[in-house]
Amino acid sequence: PGPLTVPPLQSRLGLQMAGESKKWVLLVTAQTPTNIAVIKYWGKRDESLILPINDSISVTLDPAHLCTTTTVSVSPSFDQDRMWLNGKCRRFPFPGGRFQRCLKEIRARASDVEDEKKGIKITKKDWENLHLHISSYNNFPTAAGLASSAAGLACLVFSLAKLMNVKEDLGQLSAIARQGSGSACRSLYGGFVKWIMGKNDDGSDSIAVQLADEKHWDELVIVIAVVSSRQKETSSTSGMRETVETSMLIKHRAKEVVPKRIVEMEEAIKNRDFPSFAHLACADSNQIIGCVEKWNRSEESPQVAYTFDAGPNAVMIARNRKVAALLLQRLLFHFPPNADTDLNSYVIGDKSILQDVG
Ligand code: DP6
Repeated sequence: PGPLTVPPLQSRLGLQMAGESKKWVLLVTAQTPTNIAVIKYWGKRDESLILPINDSISVTLDPAHLCTTTTVSVSPSFDQDRMWLNGKCRRFPFPGGRFQRCLKEIRARASDVEDEKKGIKITKKDWENLHLHISSYNNFPTAAGLASSAAGLACLVFSLAKLMNVKEDLGQLSAIARQGSGSACRSLYGGFVKWIMGKNDDGSDSIAVQLADEKHWDELVIVIAVVSSRQKETSSTSGMRETVETSMLIKHRAKEVVPKRIVEMEEAIKNRDFPSFAHLACADSNQIIGCVEKWNRSEESPQVAYTFDAGPNAVMIARNRKVAALLLQRLLFHFPPNADTDLNSYVIGDKSILQDVG
């Protein structure tokens, strides 16, 4: 067993030749895990640039279990842009303009790509006219509240940047991924990540930074109970818009509550202080799980933290492998997976924990 969260990005650059030189295909494959916020991003101050009303902190998951794999390719023989999501051909580009915005930002930073031996030369100008084929695959339910847009957009931005030889660092790429989906900016790093809300109107300082890498607190085990793989009823985008428009408390949360929690959470992560981490993550999540609370109350100090995003699926963070095994035992007892229930899987950072459960 290795660390539970590993560096998120792996990419491969390939070149396929098919006879004539005009038939080359240049492609990049990248893999990006999703992230789970422990202090949530909820509410935007700018809808089109995707600028949040508060900082947020997340944990990036192990790509073996929840990740998007994306291949982007370009060839002079492609006569149109095409896109596949989980094997199905999708309308290109996605509606809403977010994808186009990311693509525009990446294209603006593209550099020449040259392979003399193979006789390939793509200039900055060529990138504006060459058609793209994009194929993306999630190994977890799409749009069910498991931050599929985070992994998807981060992976897309990263792979396009590699393909087009963009020389920006991860912080600058995170500002581009942010414009595809806010939480995506945090998926460019492994470990614990903070999205700094920033102050500038153009969003240039609204970027993600790594607080601690994946080895820093590798005792933690993240357990995800996928109770429903159905699409969530309210998207995060519209849910947070409605909150900002109608909630009297959201300003108070953004200005008073979250800044304090961010400082405390950073401290808890630095010190690997699980009781504080659990208290803050649970407090910041808007749902309550009775059994986790009851269990934590019955022990001297908390054993498990839970948190929810916009969907129904529970994310639980166990303080160590022993507790994770106990947690799985309890979950399997209370919600045995069978054909009658919607509960279909437990995603864990390390399969050997299942053996511990027996
Ligand atoms: C509850 O990043 O999906 O997961 O920026 O509108 O695309 P858009 O929203 P999105 O919202 C994520 C909300 C959340 C909390 C979080 O990840 O911080």
